[in-house]
Amino acid sequence: MAQVFVSDHPLVQHKLTLLRDVNTEPKRFRELLKEITWLLLYEATKDLKVEEWPVTSPMGSTVGRKLTEEIAFCPILRAGLGMIDPALELIPGAQIWHIGIYRDHETLQPIEYYTSLPKKATAQVAIILDPMLATGGSAVAAVDLLKRIGVPRIKFVGMIAAPEGLERLHQIHPDVDVYVASVDEYLTPEPQKPGDPPAGYIVPGLGDAGDRQFGTK
Ligand code: PRP
Ligand code: URA
Repeated sequence: MAQVFVSDHPLVQHKLTLLRDVNTEPKRFRELLKEITWLLLYEATKDLKVEEWPVTSPMGSTVGRKLTEEIAFCPILRAGLGMIDPALELIPGAQIWHIGIYRDHETLQPIEYYTSLPKKATAQVAIILDPMLATGGSAVAAVDLLKRIGVPRIKFVGMIAAPEGLERLHQIHPDVDVYVASVDEYLTPEPQKPGDPPAGYIVPGLGDAGDRQFGTK
């Protein structure tokens, strides 16, 4: 059974609070997204395989360790784009497999519009990057794509998950570990009256991660 890792690290929680803040401008939002991604990936990469590797420093020789697995980071467009840079800072040799999926505003169903995946997996570990796991539809669709090309190990790294989305992801893909800064309270229901927020948003959440990152409305 997959694990859900929710970071209670003070730095993550401090930065997440700023990320949620409605007054945080896109520039600072992007910086915070980057910083939290870095901290969460530190945890998500804890079980990567290594092999012994002899190394000589100016002072002598020892046996160090070197990563042995090929890693692919898989940002879900567009909000996952802001998580690529910190991922590549940690693992500069990783591949980037872009996954274009958006959530239809009416049906909340994931719509695939662009992917750049290899025909057969060229990485042993794929790490999906997307700030938000709401209904779970986009994450499930991304995992489907990755399993179809034969990726053996898949993880999900995001900022905030809704309980409903986590349950759905783990019902369908019980082998995908999830790393987030928070599991929030619930998803907004269907609006009942004018002025109600649209359905399917995470509460308290942070709003629309793509819009807040790129300054769109
Ligand atoms: C957001 C978010 C996830 C998805 C989560 O993307 O970045 O991909 O919604 O919702 P779900 O769990 O209910 O599928 P969105 O569809 O808004 O696309 P965008 O990043 O291009 O704005
Ligand atoms: N997508 C977002 O960007 N935010 C949510 O709260 C839900 C889906």
